[in-house]
Amino acid sequence: MLRIPWSRGAELTLEEKVAISDSVARFQLGESGQGRHFLRVARKYADRTADAEDAFYVDALQMFVAEEQRHAELLGRFLDLAEVPRIQQEWSNHCFRRLRHLAGLELIISVLLTAEIIARVYYAALRRATDSTVLKRICEQLLRDEVMHIRFQAERLARIRRRLPCWRNRLAVRMQRLLFGATCVVVWIGHYHALRRGGLTFSEFWKRSHGEFRVASKLMDPGRYEILADWPPPRPGAVRVKVAC
Ligand SMILES: [Fe+2]
Ligand SMILES: [Fe+2]
Repeated sequence: MLRIPWSRGAELTLEEKVAISDSVARFQLGESGQGRHFLRVARKYADRTADAEDAFYVDALQMFVAEEQRHAELLGRFLDLAEVPRIQQEWSNHCFRRLRHLAGLELIISVLLTAEIIARVYYAALRRATDSTVLKRICEQLLRDEVMHIRFQAERLARIRRRLPCWRNRLAVRMQRLLFGATCVVVWIGHYHALRRGGLTFSEFWKRSHGEFRVASKLMDPGRYEILADWPPPRPGAVRVKVAC
């Protein structure tokens, strides 16, 4: 965990504050979920498959949720330092949460990954958008953590998809790409000033986001994990892992 030099204060210029404060407040809200529904669905899934790996996932997921809450705390403390009010509700965040509540584990992870991948591009741009030492350090910490979050969730998605038919996985990947493209547009519109200040045009934002998406897509591909197909061995009565597409 990086040391954050809180005593330096927010060190935001007026221009920086105008460009990024609203955007940071919305990302802070996005990071602040309790993960209750996510954990409930993951537990149900683990009960259904009776696979020890899925039970481990639930334990790891609790740590994941705690780390996301730590991100919310860091951003929240920075907002307080900069005297920017925190927000409690925002429409795109609300839509994302609703979508996750309607869904099963696979879709919840897909939606979450969409946000995590774009967050990596966003936090890198935010780091460039400011000279605030505190905010830069927070962005560095978040960028480090999000790499591992993407890996963790993408590998889990691959494991879930390994149990599904190939046609179903191809359809899921197409839908995920569509959702990702649409989310890029929404994030660009909603965080335009911060992203522009971070040196991105729309086409650069699109290119970088899709570059990150391509990397994550490889991790989501069940075919990469053939060697893990039967390890650990499923308990009696567990759902057997199918051959990769
Ligand atoms: Fe996060
Ligand atoms: Fe994350």
